[in-house]
Amino acid sequence: MQALAPASPQVAPAGRTLDVDNLTVRYGSAVAVDGVSLAIEPGEVVALLGPSGCGKTTLLRVIAGFVRQAGGRVLVDGTGIDHLPANQRNVGIVFQNYALFPHMTVTENVAYGLRARGQRGAAVDQRVERMLDMVQLGAFRERLPRQLSGGQQQRVALARALAVEPSILLLDEPFAALDRNLRLDMQIEVKRLQRQLGLTTILVTHDQDEAMSVADRIAVMNKGTVEQFDTPVAIYDRPKTLFVNGFIGTTNLLPGKVMAVVGDTATVALDAGATVRLPAQGIAAGSSVILSVRPEQLVLSPVATADSWPIEPGLSLPLGSQLVHEARAAGGTALKIVEPRRRSASETQRRFCALTPDARPSLFPRSTHPATE
Ligand SMILES: Nc1ncnc2c1ncn2[C@@H]1O[C@H](COP(=O)(O)OP(=O)(O)OP(=O)(O)O)[C@@H](O)[C@H]1O
Ligand SMILES: [Mg+2]
Repeated sequence: MQALAPASPQVAPAGRTLDVDNLTVRYGSAVAVDGVSLAIEPGEVVALLGPSGCGKTTLLRVIAGFVRQAGGRVLVDGTGIDHLPANQRNVGIVFQNYALFPHMTVTENVAYGLRARGQRGAAVDQRVERMLDMVQLGAFRERLPRQLSGGQQQRVALARALAVEPSILLLDEPFAALDRNLRLDMQIEVKRLQRQLGLTTILVTHDQDEAMSVADRIAVMNKGTVEQFDTPVAIYDRPKTLFVNGFIGTTNLLPGKVMAVVGDTATVALDAGATVRLPAQGIAAGSSVILSVRPEQLVLSPVATADSWPIEPGLSLPLGSQLVHEARAAGGTALKIVEPRRRSASETQRRFCALTPDARPSLFPRSTHPATE
């Protein structure tokens, strides 16, 4: 006698690789996605981060099978899936606008994918129940979507996507409508489920903190292309372009000129009025550059030194255990400096700014700065 299949697998399935290979999508003559390639490991969480309109949703829709590309391929475990209709791709998607069925209750929405796959009876009920518990909506099971808040609808959409046990999960800003506490709960819950089920996951987000904390790697998109695909730490510490640099974290941009390069060390004269040394990062002597310095890589001091520059102090704001200082350098360049909160000389006494000894600022050609385009 054949044993009944369990409602859900007891053993986590091996994750799938997901390869996006040179994908291009056009809407009419406009290019929404322009030659994007991403090789995603089994069970990996990749965050897509980028400004509105850069092509994030379009990329997800092609992977899910709702939009057809003009060029390039999508492969799962090395096999092209472009010929498959959406419901045969084993891809779960949570849409940016939830897209719940308005005439169906919460229960019916969550059960939809299971029924569409021909499942019936107690197994479906149990699975739906589990999913609703997970998103803390058990008490709302008979409601219609219009009787729910935006955040609750988002949770139903997540439960619906996970109910069919996909091997690839696509999440389009799934937590945007949730308040802070619930958002954190859901981030942890999604990460736990994703690990347990070995789900290869793409998460679209506008929130860099979310990308940094949830993702194994981040793809930063700009105008339909991926500017950098790397670990969160690498993206923060070694941004490849000024765009990536400006999109992740807060940064200070200090213009200057490379006076000399000896070995791998560049001597840069900052417009603010100091000369600093730092790794040359392939930039030649004589170049006009922009130095990108994180707020925690700057210190204020009461006395001038060879490599400090004068500043006009502004506001100082306590932020948890830190103090955030605003200041202005020569030429009006606005600066943000972050330091641990401690008792120190009156802020107005500290009229000089310098790099911390361990600062590793990024150096970019000035010509790549949008203001010079
Ligand atoms: N169905 C469509 N028809 C025509 N143009 C579209 C269509 N969908 C998206 N676009 C355009 O394609 C580009 C990329 O859109 P997409 O929705 O992928 O951006 P996004 O990165 O998800 O933005 P957001 O962060 O605002 O959600 C935009 O310029 C958008 O106007
Ligand atoms: Mg979008």
